[in-house]
Amino acid sequence: MTGSLRAGRERACRERTDKDKIYIMNATIITLPGDGIGPEVVVEAVRVLEHVAAAYGHRFAFNEAMIGGCAIDAAGGPLPDETLAACRAADAVLLGAVGGPKWSDPTAPVRPEQGLLKLRGHFELFANLRPVRAWPALARYAPLRADLLESVDILFVRELTGGIYFGKRREQDDGDTAWDTMAYTVEEVERVARVAFEAARSRRKKVTSVDKANVLAAMRLWRRTVTGMARDYPDIELEHALVDSFAMNVLRWPSSYDVVVTGNMFGDILSDECSVLAGSLGMLPSASLGAGTFGVYEPIHGSAPDIAGKGIANPTGTILSAAMLLRHSLGLEAEAQAVEDAVEAALAAGARTPDIGAPGVEPLSTTAFTDAVLAQMKTRA
Ligand code: NAD
Ligand code: IPM
Ligand code: MN
Repeated sequence: MTGSLRAGRERACRERTDKDKIYIMNATIITLPGDGIGPEVVVEAVRVLEHVAAAYGHRFAFNEAMIGGCAIDAAGGPLPDETLAACRAADAVLLGAVGGPKWSDPTAPVRPEQGLLKLRGHFELFANLRPVRAWPALARYAPLRADLLESVDILFVRELTGGIYFGKRREQDDGDTAWDTMAYTVEEVERVARVAFEAARSRRKKVTSVDKANVLAAMRLWRRTVTGMARDYPDIELEHALVDSFAMNVLRWPSSYDVVVTGNMFGDILSDECSVLAGSLGMLPSASLGAGTFGVYEPIHGSAPDIAGKGIANPTGTILSAAMLLRHSLGLEAEAQAVEDAVEAALAAGARTPDIGAPGVEPLSTTAFTDAVLAQMKTRA
């Protein structure tokens, strides 16, 4: 499922040039820029992918489609049929963000976020990988003590197509009661837990399963199922944690965690919390994966209405999502690594958007920061 474990290529086609044993990848990538800062960060990640294509001789075709609030305005719904059809025919999707104040009226019949949930559900993208690392160049200015951030490298595996997000709900505009339900089946827990155990095998061999088994029935099933699966992975250390104290411990001892598997809503909240370890919400990427190689790649942040249109959004989360796209959907590990190395080198060289700004360092625009990443790719090629 992760990285090298995802061997099969379904649609992306590899050509081999026998002379120098270089593989050329032909791939179709759909971009869904969405709302707010979404378009501002997606355009930069596409520049990085275009650079990768040129440098390594691949052919990436990019097609743009609509999702979210802009799709509600233009087409009457947050996930038009044409968008779904375009995604179905593609190898991977690169998404910005959806939502914003314009569409936030709680009584509105449709919301931008529904488009994102429908996309995830439609393709059964049940495993959402959200890696969190603390960058040495940023540790000095983090709100947490720099020594706590040394060697922080956590992989959140968030269940993405079940739980309270997709349970039965009742909502009536004029009613005095509304409810959502959290349900999990053994099969849903097993498939996401398997992704976590497999990922741990190529990492530090530890899985922390985060739940609320002391209160919720669905979470007791979660814990029982994960415990049962651990028998297939005797080489992996499994620990269980309750979400409330985990939320505290992960900031207290962040380097003690390796792979963290959790349900849909807890994974949403905990990954935003842990972005503080990386320096900013704008730093974290994600990959949403199902059974095949197709995936949706997006930063974990939202449309950031407070900074939209100013050209100052941090594109790192989206650029690193593009690296995950190269790795998980296209099997281009060296290219993915090159992008990640360039981001690290740009940060080490002092490139900063305002959200990760350091005293005395002139902040860069979204585009100038990406230029700094591209410059590192060029000098390192
Ligand atoms: P948000 O993630 O949009 O913003 C939270 C804070 O982080 C803001 O101060 C913002 O400026 C900052 N921030 C976020 N991304 C940044 C970046 N790349 N660079 C610099 N700073 C960044 O969360 P919110 O304000 O709670 O939500 C705004 C809207 O986004 C809502 O409509 C919400 O539903 C939506 N949302 C969408 C997604 C998604 O599309 N995947 C994810 C989260 C929230
Ligand atoms: C995320 C977002 C989404 C989620 C919303 C916008 C539906 O917060 O991708 O983290 O809650 O999953
Ligand atoms: Mn979120």
